[in-house]
Amino acid sequence: MNYSDIVMDHFMNPRNVGELESPDGIGQIGNVSCGDIMRMTIRVREERIEDVRFKTFGCGAAIAVSSMVTEMVKGKSLEEAVAINRDDVAQALGGLPEKKLHCSNLGTDALKAAINDYWRKTGHPEKVVPLEDQHLEHESEEANACCGSNERGCRQPEDGGVSQGTGA
Ligand code: FES
Repeated sequence: MNYSDIVMDHFMNPRNVGELESPDGIGQIGNVSCGDIMRMTIRVREERIEDVRFKTFGCGAAIAVSSMVTEMVKGKSLEEAVAINRDDVAQALGGLPEKKLHCSNLGTDALKAAINDYWRKTGHPEKVVPLEDQHLEHESEEANACCGSNERGCRQPEDGGVSQGTGA
């Protein structure tokens, strides 16, 4: 499979890896087809993303996507960040192989889930946006309570449910 130099750079040297302490929003979703999991934490100041970190248990494309999404949204307003879609990310990465396009959904939707979590926690559920795709989804910190290991079973939703994205 051919990856662009940008994808390889973000895969080999991922930016903003880890987890913020006391984040303002947490988004964690799992891809329904491959089971890969992405978790984003954001710090919000004056409705801008001041800082963002990710942890991805998944393929190389998903890691590159996560890294690129964090770079694209840092410093952006929540409105601007939520408008970034999977095509924007794939384009910023210099393209993704056809079979790996679904991996870019995971990045933008993990970010949207984190922003949605922020809106819910701050009493603005009306600002919550739909995700681009269907995922195994855990958006809130409470829902993400687990042992923190990298074992997939630990990170699956307890009810095994699938969120209702737009399927766009
Ligand atoms: S193969 Fe699962 S996110 Fe890439």
